[in-house]
Amino acid sequence: MNGAFSIYPRPGLARHYLDRLLTSPNRALSVFGPRQVGKTTLLQHDLAALAEREGIAALYVDFMASSNALELLNARLAQLVHEARMGLSKRRVKAAKAAGFGIDLEPAPSDPVSADPGVQLQNAFSTLNRLRPGVQLLLMLDEAQELVRQQEGERTMKAIRALFNTFQGQLLLLITGSSREGLLRLFGDRHRASFGLADHEDFQRLGRDFVEAKAAAFNKQRRQPIEIDTLYTAFQAMEHRPADFIAYLSFLAINEVRDVVGSVQVFLQTRYPTEAVRERFLRFTPLQRTVLTLLAEGPCQVASKATMDRVARELGAPVTAGGIRHALTSLPADVIANPARGHYEIVDAQLLAWLREADRE
Ligand SMILES: Nc1ncnc2c1ncn2[C@@H]1O[C@H](COP(=O)(O)OP(=O)(O)OP(=O)(O)O)[C@@H](O)[C@H]1O
Ligand SMILES: [Mg+2]
Repeated sequence: MNGAFSIYPRPGLARHYLDRLLTSPNRALSVFGPRQVGKTTLLQHDLAALAEREGIAALYVDFMASSNALELLNARLAQLVHEARMGLSKRRVKAAKAAGFGIDLEPAPSDPVSADPGVQLQNAFSTLNRLRPGVQLLLMLDEAQELVRQQEGERTMKAIRALFNTFQGQLLLLITGSSREGLLRLFGDRHRASFGLADHEDFQRLGRDFVEAKAAAFNKQRRQPIEIDTLYTAFQAMEHRPADFIAYLSFLAINEVRDVVGSVQVFLQTRYPTEAVRERFLRFTPLQRTVLTLLAEGPCQVASKATMDRVARELGAPVTAGGIRHALTSLPADVIANPARGHYEIVDAQLLAWLREADRE
């Protein structure tokens, strides 16, 4: 259970979400957590299992999986209805056999179908309700910020809201995403169908107990164990991303590392080269970023009037040739070269590639 790569269970957090949904079933819950902190894992492992143990049907939908969210939701619910039917028919067959009857069952009544996907969603839930009377369904909608971006997003949210209102108390709605702004727009923008549908919580990140559990086997292998507090500080430096931490333990096992916390950034740069470049770029001043973006298009005379005008326009503030020169010369030495008077070029290949790519997007 506590192997280096196994999922560290979070029963307390799963319990917390389920209890919250059960105590206020007329309010959905939206949960924001940054990338890679373990949201999906919690939903698919801990929460789905807990719900099933309590007799609550659980359905997980990842809106990243399709650009047609409503169709996806319908398909996933149809699958659940199918499974409920199969479960039921197995039980019926068993019961019939036990009673010594034949197994000719009455054909199931055909399900109502509608061409309107919103109506179809309601039909599917009604069917589920017929197969499992009074069923409670925990609907977990992951990557919900996609609904803000997708063309069909608003229609999907309308259908979800209608389903939620029609089957009050039977539908437990948990919505998660990795864009706080996206989630807040979904539920805080009064022009949207989903306005006011959900309360909001931040996703609780993994803590010291996770570090302790993962470090136990690791420390056993070492002549000199690393203090849990030190490892926890390293975990915080990687913003509580569990997969990063597990990979970092492997990194520590094969590399001679003196400064466990200080080496986190170096490790992350090897793991996420693009992200590292972006973070580095964002630490430059606005003027430096503007000039670098310009230089990424090719070498140019930075003090020419054309360049100065363009920089001023993009920066939204007046600039001087001296200001540009200072911005460039105060960059770290490995970023640019100054092969001829007034000529600058980016020599950091990674940064250059990243800027050119960012420009294409
Ligand atoms: N409780 C856990 N124990 C061990 N590893 C975990 C745990 N939770 C998540 N992970 C690992 O961390 C990585 C990210 O997890 P997950 O995909 O659940 O995060 P997420 O928050 O949904 O990320 P994203 O925002 O990118 O969708 C995965 O490799 C997963 O296996
Ligand atoms: Mg996820």
